[in-house]
Amino acid sequence: MIALRCSGGCDVAPSDHDALSCAQCGDLLAFELRADAFGAQAVDENARLRRASLDPKDRSGVWRFRELLPPVAEDAITTLREGDVPLIDAPRGAAYAGVAQLAYLHLGVNPTASFKDAGMTVAISHARERGARVAVCASTGNTAASMAAYAARAGLTAVVIAPVDGISAAKVAQTLDYGAHVVAVEGDFDDALRAVRALDPATVAVVNSVNPYRIEGQKTAAFVLLEQRRWAAPDWVVLPGGNLGNASALGKGFREAHAIGLTTSAPRLAVVQASGAAPFARAWRDGGDLVPVRAETDATAIRIGAPASWKKARAEVRASGGTVLDVADGEIAEARAVIGRDGVGCEPASAASLAGLRRLVADGSIKPDADVVCVLTGHVLKDTAYAARYHASDAAHANAIVRGVDLADYLNLLLLTHA
Ligand code: F0G
Repeated sequence: MIALRCSGGCDVAPSDHDALSCAQCGDLLAFELRADAFGAQAVDENARLRRASLDPKDRSGVWRFRELLPPVAEDAITTLREGDVPLIDAPRGAAYAGVAQLAYLHLGVNPTASFKDAGMTVAISHARERGARVAVCASTGNTAASMAAYAARAGLTAVVIAPVDGISAAKVAQTLDYGAHVVAVEGDFDDALRAVRALDPATVAVVNSVNPYRIEGQKTAAFVLLEQRRWAAPDWVVLPGGNLGNASALGKGFREAHAIGLTTSAPRLAVVQASGAAPFARAWRDGGDLVPVRAETDATAIRIGAPASWKKARAEVRASGGTVLDVADGEIAEARAVIGRDGVGCEPASAASLAGLRRLVADGSIKPDADVVCVLTGHVLKDTAYAARYHASDAAHANAIVRGVDLADYLNLLLLTHA
């Protein structure tokens, strides 16, 4: 019902469940679901009953859809109740972008505060079932923290390879707290990922999003989004793109939900990159293959120049009738501050979604009456140094700390101006 295949379309089914790429063509592997083997009503009913259960596996937004995942032995499942994230109405964001209807799918409301947990619970559970002792990843910070937490729960040793000076200190500290070995490398994420992909996946569990089990977990974000809308798809889903695992995962999730009949349509996907790290946006515009770049952006989570999953992501964006674009760091900073004013905090990379939506409305690609969901991939506390810098600046939405005032006078002034 769900089988591992070459994502490039080779006929030979991989026999090795630790492999990450096709032995024949080198493309990444992907699970393929036989949608006709599932009944929409049964999937929905199972999810509904499990939401009311007290078993952590049932309450997980990932494992309550376990029939749609590669099978993992019950006793290997390592869960922190991830994936059960809210869809939050976003009136200020909607006004900012110029659309009638906007909500945020807040994947930062996960156990380690990023979307990675939905994929990591599946990848680490699988690794545990296979008897792996060591889990490894390259990371711009969030994969590292997520792997470290789930490895700790599963009793695996975690090793992170990361450009520690170029990523958020909060994420590094979080990862150290969960007990992972953090190996600092010269160079950037792309160098670190290259080193990790050269390891033998039969010896250590490589849990970057090149691991197809990660993608399967992350696709459930699409189900959780649709479930909260009573399986009515929005017109567009907008999300940031770095290594492009998440765009391929969400696209797959929506495609499967549609094929199973859970929903009558699938949303169009818009993938947004930071302009200094936008090889996918360029390849999309040119219609050619992806040409890696040396990446530079303040949104350090997506400072990635050679995204591993670009072919999968392109296939999903095409299948959805979607688009790919890039936005400047200044647009990301402003959008992030606006998201804050909805009472919802996210890290810089996440805000590329709202910045991208604003652009797509301005250029007419998305109509003002569209029903849109922006995916927020990480929590505001993931990068407080960035937020503090922004508010100390003279940027449009900066909110400076008030110093040296008389409190009574100041409150009176506020009462007058907010009468
Ligand atoms: N948003 C955040 C907050 C991220 O941490 C990442 C990627 C992305 C978006 C992009 O997702 O790579 O699937 O396209 N972070 C990875 C990491 C690379 O190591 O934490 P993607």
